[in-house]
Amino acid sequence: MSESSLENLYHEGRAFPPPDAFAAQANVSDDGVYEQAAKDPEAWWAQQAEHLRWTTPWEQVLEWNPPHAKWFVGGQLNIADNCLDRHLEAGRGDRVAYYWEGEPADERRTITYAELHEEVCRFANVLKARGVGKGDRVAIYLPMIPELPVAMLACARIGAIHSVVFAGFSSQALADRIDDADARLVITADGANRRGNTIGLKEAVDAGIERAESDRVSTVIVVNRTGTDVDMVDGRDVWWHDVMDGASADCPAEPMDAEDVLYILYTSGTTGKPKGIVHTTGGYLTQTTATHRLTFDLKPETDVYWCAADIGWVTGHSYIVYAPLANGATSVMYEGTPDFPDKDRFWDIVDRYDVSILYTAPTAIRAFMKWGTEYPERHDLTSLRVLGTVGEPINPEAWMWYHRHIGGESAPIVDTWWQTETGGHMITPLPGITHARPGSAMTAFPGIDARVVDIEGKEVGNGEGGYLVIAKPWPSMLRTIWGDDQRYRDTYWSRFGPDTYFAGDGAKLDEDGNIWLLGRVDDVMNISGHRLSTTEVESALVDHPSVAEAAVVGRADDLTGQAISAFVTLRGTHEPSEDLEAELKAHVAEVIGKIARPAEIYFTPDLPKTRSGKIMRRLLKQISEGSDLGDATTLANPDIVNALQQAARGR
Ligand code: PRX
Repeated sequence: MSESSLENLYHEGRAFPPPDAFAAQANVSDDGVYEQAAKDPEAWWAQQAEHLRWTTPWEQVLEWNPPHAKWFVGGQLNIADNCLDRHLEAGRGDRVAYYWEGEPADERRTITYAELHEEVCRFANVLKARGVGKGDRVAIYLPMIPELPVAMLACARIGAIHSVVFAGFSSQALADRIDDADARLVITADGANRRGNTIGLKEAVDAGIERAESDRVSTVIVVNRTGTDVDMVDGRDVWWHDVMDGASADCPAEPMDAEDVLYILYTSGTTGKPKGIVHTTGGYLTQTTATHRLTFDLKPETDVYWCAADIGWVTGHSYIVYAPLANGATSVMYEGTPDFPDKDRFWDIVDRYDVSILYTAPTAIRAFMKWGTEYPERHDLTSLRVLGTVGEPINPEAWMWYHRHIGGESAPIVDTWWQTETGGHMITPLPGITHARPGSAMTAFPGIDARVVDIEGKEVGNGEGGYLVIAKPWPSMLRTIWGDDQRYRDTYWSRFGPDTYFAGDGAKLDEDGNIWLLGRVDDVMNISGHRLSTTEVESALVDHPSVAEAAVVGRADDLTGQAISAFVTLRGTHEPSEDLEAELKAHVAEVIGKIARPAEIYFTPDLPKTRSGKIMRRLLKQISEGSDLGDATTLANPDIVNALQQAARGR
């Protein structure tokens, strides 16, 4: 927990109630909802589940055998049916599902619910024709193009389990995920657009399949996105447009059990091996749709909603694909970066589509702040009525900037705390009720029992800090870790007993009992709102022939929240040099993905260790942040610390 977040907290007395006019039209404006949901959470969630179309009603809302939950036991539904067919049947087929905008500014597509339905059905038939059926795993490695939600929904329609791998990850990361989930089919594109250049995706898939231990991948379906030259492997690789050509648009949705697996999504834990987080069907869709409706005050008939995340992360799964479509919303989906061709791209999009709800990350807001107000000022942003953030704590200054310069001082801001594991929002303001404090995620969503406890698991009082836990099961919770239920138990349900979920975040209650998130308490870093484990990056470094030992810490960074500082000891005759530093950075990017590239590497003959040989990460973090070290005399090798401090000052 950094001292600055505690300090911010001390000074933050401002509160922003919803404007009266907003509260008057809000989907929920009576704070009695919290008490009602707390009194009978199962009844509350059942009420939310009624918004969906169930083909078989559930018999029991919750079956809780800690740490395993089943929600809506006996119920059946299909998610693609909920996202598509029922809207068509209700006469909403002409409503726009996505305004898709490519990174090249002249590429735009408007996709209605009816059109999306047709593409999904056809692609579902393509998958079936390739032998994919219920329970089979499909890896998806695509940029932000419409084929990505089409592929996900087609899997959901036939009961196949998708594993979306962020297209910025390396071929090695893809190989690991193909192996772990034992995927038999991969969907990709020839390339992706990035700031006017193209990045090869198909070649990464070829390398990934080559590196994977499994030889089960029998089909690779390739979208022609960038016109990049690719090698098509005979008998394995097919073009999306070829296989879609002539595929029937008639594909009934497979009835799925509420607890059937919808997807696996990998996220970093405290060890090098990413965890395959498993989400199921009924509870997941219940909570994601309920939060989407209430946290954002969604009015599907009139709002234009834009979640500016990438579908490769959980935010995109839940709040670009599943919840908005199931709620019948009209969304913007944008392929590119916020600064292409210029730094006003986001505001241009908001202006052009009259976006009314915008959901983005603090790291993006800090970049906008740095670029200056001239960019938003070029555009009319008055359509915006709700603003959201997710992924990391938002600094009060960034919150205030968002409020003033984007929200016109009137749009409520919802700072939503949740995780890949939680599937949907857990702690967030409700925009028609909450008197939001800049920097605080405020209150558990109705029906969620979030608490802050001390090391013994005892609840702390107002004004005190500790560990964030969730004391009751929730519908969109992860069900297990793919192939490793023991790790599921050990990671989340052992620290405070088998019925208390340990989130891995520090938190503090303010004088009024509002929740302030203080960052991770384990070895997980948060770079621009994305999780990476220190071990993962260390393993990538040690994988290089010149490296003997490596330690990695997430240091505070103004823009990205945290940045990676690496401390490296070289093998034998290898000498530190700028070239080697660049090579190691590139190596990490190659093994994991660009997002994991260290900001700086310190070469050191030894790492500061305790006498029992444990690397002192706290000290490394302080060194990289240039903060006061306190007592380092208990170390086995105190001289190293002085040398590193000097090196850090020299940077
Ligand atoms: O540390 C918390 C931080 O992001 C972690 C979850 O990361 P991930 O699974 O990648 O999901 C990110 C998108 C849901 C959490 O353990 N985090 C997420 N949202 C917030 C946050 N920290 C503070 N405030 C938030 N609103």
